[in-house]
Amino acid sequence: MEKCLAPSILSADFGILKQQLEVIDEAGAQYVHFDVMDGVFVPSISFGLPVLKTIRKYTDRMMDVHLMIVDPERYVKDFAEAGADIITVHAEACKHLDATIELIKASGAMAGVAINPATPLSAISHVLEKVDMVLIMTVNPGFGGQSLIPYTLDKVRELSQLLNQKGLKIDIEVDGGINKDTIDDALDAGANIIVAGSAVFNGDISANVEALMEKMR
Ligand code: DX5
Ligand code: ZN
Repeated sequence: MEKCLAPSILSADFGILKQQLEVIDEAGAQYVHFDVMDGVFVPSISFGLPVLKTIRKYTDRMMDVHLMIVDPERYVKDFAEAGADIITVHAEACKHLDATIELIKASGAMAGVAINPATPLSAISHVLEKVDMVLIMTVNPGFGGQSLIPYTLDKVRELSQLLNQKGLKIDIEVDGGINKDTIDDALDAGANIIVAGSAVFNGDISANVEALMEKMR
């Protein structure tokens, strides 16, 4: 599977977001990871539809929308219309995960399903055939800048084997605590879509993107 970097703009400087999008784009990052938090499913509140609509005008990269909100089916259509290319929902946040995945696909976006660190793979095993991407959270969602929880990479390894066995070619994304010291372990475990927030936006953004992308070659 193709390896792609997905900078999480949660750690960007929102006052100069347009310029920072240009920098990650020029440095070669293929995705933009867009974290939506509702203050209920996770403690924080981040940003939502108006911000997505605005930044969609400034980047052609894959817009990777990570919905950390309860009952996300309420907003799937709106996020698709606002420019999401991929919409990822949490298994823990959906009353009817199968129906929500179908709704994402009907909206025209690609469908992703996410699980928190303590959620077992069995929570999503029956929907693997239906999704384009699985997001294995490598931290508890809610904040940037946390440390990767090592056992989550065991789940990445297990998922990678399971997908091979089933002959399914879908992306495995990791999110949380990925930096130049942890990216190799995540890639070795089988992840191919790499989210990085603080490791991209703290310091020299262009150099950070290039350093992470170098590890992905
Ligand atoms: C965490 C978010 C992440 C976050 C990652 O709840 O889903 O996308 O921005 O930040 P870092 O890479 O700093 O751990
Ligand atoms: Zn995220």
